[in-house]
Amino acid sequence: MNDKLLAIKQKAEVEIAKAQTAHDINNLRSHFIGKKSELNDFMKQLGSLSPEERPAFGKQINDIKVAIEQLLAAAEVRIDTMLYQNSIQSSQFDYTMPGRPYKIGSLHPITQVFHKIEDVFISMGYQIAEGYDIEDEFHNFDALNTPKDHPARNLADTFYIENAQQSGDRSDTASNELLLRTHTSTVQIRVMENYAPPIKVVSPGRCYRNDKFDMTHSPVFHQIECLAVDIGLSFADLRDTMNTCVKKMFGSDCKFRFRPHFFPFTEPSAEVDISCFNCAGKGCPTCKNSGWIEIAGAGMVDPNVFKQVGIDSEKYSGFAFAFGIDRMAMLTYHIPDIRLLYENDLRFLRQF
Ligand code: DAH
Repeated sequence: MNDKLLAIKQKAEVEIAKAQTAHDINNLRSHFIGKKSELNDFMKQLGSLSPEERPAFGKQINDIKVAIEQLLAAAEVRIDTMLYQNSIQSSQFDYTMPGRPYKIGSLHPITQVFHKIEDVFISMGYQIAEGYDIEDEFHNFDALNTPKDHPARNLADTFYIENAQQSGDRSDTASNELLLRTHTSTVQIRVMENYAPPIKVVSPGRCYRNDKFDMTHSPVFHQIECLAVDIGLSFADLRDTMNTCVKKMFGSDCKFRFRPHFFPFTEPSAEVDISCFNCAGKGCPTCKNSGWIEIAGAGMVDPNVFKQVGIDSEKYSGFAFAFGIDRMAMLTYHIPDIRLLYENDLRFLRQF
């Protein structure tokens, strides 16, 4: 082989071995095999050779060119690998580490209690009825036999939406203003307006009262309303239904009792207590040492309510009750403060 060509190849080997960057490679490529390279000058000389010499010399030049191209390609791979390894070391990225797991969400404790109690009612043949969060005074109060001067109607207790009057006393208002419903009992009226007995419905939902937040109060809270209307229903049926709910929600050892009370829309009316599952009725802070925890309002549908919706109270009777769902969630999961249910603190929510 021509000595000069050999010298070019040897020089290329030395220089390419020293290359550290893609930029170096580019420079070396144009230096050794580019248009202004020595090798190219040899190519140009080919024309001045005799036809006999030309093929052999041309082949030598070409072999050197191919060899240099291979050296450059190998150097590119070497540089890429080196850069990759440097970047791994400098970023300290450990490719063998497992990926970060995504945190899986869960249902809010209120939703979980709703689902559980809805299942209990569905197993007893009840249907779910949807109500409206924005209601009118008729469905929230009048149709539920609540007198005009009842304190619950005051602005201090109820959020009115339209034309809210500044005065707290609403006994002389004859309008039917919109409001945020204060209880799910409104759905009793909506259902009875639209369906004839026999009726067996429950209605889960949000309620609103003009309360300040504290450990046990929230301006937004949840209830599930139960209404059954049929021929011959009695307080015994109410008691039996209540019994099934309480046992399935709080365990078969849970006892419950009725305490006489007054609600405008039921007669007779009662508040319902369950035996404290924390101390089995012996007395503890959860039950304020009474052994009992209030959990629901209940009663037999007042004939005046039936009258409002055109149901014959001589023929039909009914019972109704509502559980406080926030209460149930707090008791079930030992949540000491109702505000935790509304703050959406992930550290709290992830526990469910
Ligand atoms: N609506 C009542 C409240 O929010 C609870 C209630 C009491 C519901 C008696 C009823 C009932 O269905 O019969 O305080």
